[in-house]
Amino acid sequence: MNTLAIIGAGPGLGLAVARRFAREGFAVALIARDKSRLEALVSFLRADGYTAAGFAADVRDRSSLAAALESATAELGPIEALQYSPVPAKEFMRPMLDTTAEDLVGPIEMSILGPVAAVQQVLPGMRSLGKGTILFVNGSSAVRPRDGVAGTSIAFAGESVYAQLLHGALAAENIHVGQLIIPLGIGSGDPAHEPEVLADRLWDIHVQRGEFRSYAAPLID
Ligand SMILES: NC(=O)c1ccc[n+]([C@@H]2O[C@H](COP(=O)([O-])OP(=O)(O)OC[C@H]3O[C@@H](n4cnc5c(N)ncnc54)[C@H](OP(=O)(O)O)[C@@H]3O)[C@@H](O)[C@H]2O)c1
Repeated sequence: MNTLAIIGAGPGLGLAVARRFAREGFAVALIARDKSRLEALVSFLRADGYTAAGFAADVRDRSSLAAALESATAELGPIEALQYSPVPAKEFMRPMLDTTAEDLVGPIEMSILGPVAAVQQVLPGMRSLGKGTILFVNGSSAVRPRDGVAGTSIAFAGESVYAQLLHGALAAENIHVGQLIIPLGIGSGDPAHEPEVLADRLWDIHVQRGEFRSYAAPLID
């Protein structure tokens, strides 16, 4: 059984994507900081007969992230698919003119250094499998920077460039890198933004291996 690892797995999108991939036969590794919340999510998945386990790590602590991915591989099986989708902290979203260099440390650790560390950790396994999928999930500020959310806008720009370069660099190795942009709030009432619909989109990206970037819905002007 191959594994989907979700980095930043919570009760919204994370759980829906876990169910979607588990339905297709994947084991699911859930990675987030809060061990007891992870255990609750894992018990939901196991109650449905799925194979799942939780691994506590903070994406800003790169050695804990690498260790979680290593434990997930040892416990569940090789990681064929990786989703990077931790929800950004509120303090990363300050107005531009209030944002200091220090304020950018957290967003950059979360959205640039964390993804690079995670990909470095899973790439050898994907190469051994001869296939892989790496999914990045972002809000609209990744493609349309906004004052008011300066930290995430700046860090998401770096994450998007990294992911796009990776898409090109790994295509010849049958490792697909895709980014899903989610313009509105998840579960805000818009049908295209329901977690299950977004999980279907991510499954389709995994299967169809199309363009680098897709949108859950058109960006609003
Ligand atoms: N929610 C929205 O309205 C919205 C809108 C547009 C885009 N998005 C994107 O959708 C994805 C998240 O979906 P969601 O909001 O439904 O979240 P979710 O999957 O329900 O949960 C995300 C999880 O990320 C974890 N996380 C936060 N900081 C972390 C850290 N430093 N290290 C490890 N894990 C961390 C949190 O768990 P712990 O606290 O236990 O670590 C949280 O439960 C993100 O990629 C986000 O950019 C969300």
